[in-house]
Amino acid sequence: MKKELRIGMIGYGFMGRTHSNGYRRVNNFFDLEYTPVLKAACARNQEELQKFADQWGYESTENDWRKLLERDDIDAVDICVPNNLHKEIAIAAAEAGKMILCEKPLAMNSEEGEEMCAAVEKAGVANTVWYNYRRVPAVTHAKNIIDSGKLGRIFHYRANFLQDWTISDDLPQGGNALWRLDVKAAGSGVTGDLLAHCIDTAVWLNGAVTEVTAMTETFIKERVHQETGEVTPVGIDDACSFLCRFENGSLGLFESTRYARGHKALYTFEVNGENASVKWDLHDLHRLDYFDHADESAVRGWRSIHVTDSDHPYMGNWWVPGLQIGYEHTFVHQVADFLKSLETGEPCAPTFRDALETQRVCDAVLKSATSKSWEKV
Ligand SMILES: NC(=O)c1ccc[n+]([C@@H]2O[C@H](COP(=O)([O-])OP(=O)(O)OC[C@H]3O[C@@H](n4cnc5c(N)ncnc54)[C@H](O)[C@@H]3O)[C@@H](O)[C@H]2O)c1
Repeated sequence: MKKELRIGMIGYGFMGRTHSNGYRRVNNFFDLEYTPVLKAACARNQEELQKFADQWGYESTENDWRKLLERDDIDAVDICVPNNLHKEIAIAAAEAGKMILCEKPLAMNSEEGEEMCAAVEKAGVANTVWYNYRRVPAVTHAKNIIDSGKLGRIFHYRANFLQDWTISDDLPQGGNALWRLDVKAAGSGVTGDLLAHCIDTAVWLNGAVTEVTAMTETFIKERVHQETGEVTPVGIDDACSFLCRFENGSLGLFESTRYARGHKALYTFEVNGENASVKWDLHDLHRLDYFDHADESAVRGWRSIHVTDSDHPYMGNWWVPGLQIGYEHTFVHQVADFLKSLETGEPCAPTFRDALETQRVCDAVLKSATSKSWEKV
C-alpha cells in the first residue's frame, strides 16, 4: 500500500493543468512510496472549477482557499494562482501545517519571499517552487556535466527568454488570462515571469550572482484594464536586459522580452568554460550541444547530444533510448522528486529558500533599471 499525499490544488489555469497531469502520471512511471491523491480543487468560479475537477478527477471543490486550508484531509497545497496571492496563501498554509508546492516566482519581491521562507521554516513543512526547467533531462544533464568539471573555469553565461504575444496595443491588461500585464497582480513583467526561470537555472548551474546592471522598457505605456474598462498606465517591464557578475568570476548576459516578433517561448542558455561549452534551446529541448576543445582537431566541433539514453537524467523511467518526452514531463519529474524527498527527508530543490535567491536577483535587476547603476544582489 502506498502512502497518500492528499493534494489541495488552488487555481485551474495553465499551471493547474500541468501539475494535475504530473500528479496523475507520476506513479505510472516512477517507483515511489507515496501516491498523490487529488482531494480538492479550489477557485472562485464554481462552474469552470467543476469542469476542471471532473476532467482531472478531483474528489471535491472549494471556492475559498481559506476553507481548503481548514480541511484536515489535505496534506499539501499547490499554489497555481497569480503572483500577488502566493504570499498570503503560503503563509496561511504553513500556519495550517500543510506542505506547499508553490508556482514561481516565489513572491512579488524578496521582502515577501523572506516572510514566506520564515513561515515554512518555522512550521517545518516540506516546500518546493516549480522552476520546472531544471527538470528537462537535457538541462539536468548540463548540470551534471558542469559539476563534473568538464568545462573547467567558467567565463561566460548567457540566456534569453523571448516571446511576442503582447506587441498589440489593443491587448488589455489585468484580469482573467491577462493578469501578467497588471503590475499589481504580477509584481513585474518579463523579469519575474521569464527571466526568473533563466536566473533560477543560471544560479543552479553556475552559482550565485553578486551584482547586476539592467535596463528595462515598457513599450506600450497605457492599456485598457480588463476588469474596469478604464485606460490605465502599464506598470510592468515589457523587456529587460541585464549584465551580471557571478561569484565564480564569470560574466553573465541575459535578455527577455515579449516583443521579439516570431518568438513564442525561445528559452536558450549557453555556458562557456576554458575547456568546453554547453548550450541548450527549449524549442529542441532534448538536445544538449557540447563542444570539447580536447577533441582531436580533425573531428573537433559542436556535438549534439540527444539526451534520451536510459542513463541520462530521468530517461530510464520513460521509453527506450531515442524516444523523446516533452514539456509536461518536467512537472511529472518535479512531482516525482517531491514525493522522493518525503521518503528521504531531504528538501526538494528549489525550496522557498533557494527561490528567494532568484527573487533577490530579480529585485536587484529592477532596482538597477531605475537607478541606472550597478546594484549588489
Ligand atoms: N513554471 C512555469 O513555467 C510557469 C508557467 C506559467 C505560469 N507560472 C506561474 O503559475 C502561476 C499561475 O499562472 P497560470 O499561467 O497558471 O495562470 P492562469 O491565469 O492560467 O490561472 C490562474 C488561476 O488562478 C485562479 N485564481 C485567481 N485568483 C484566485 C483566488 N483568489 N482564489 C482561487 N483561485 C484564484 C484563476 O481562476 C485561474 O484558475 C503564476 O504564479 C505564474 O507565474 C509558472
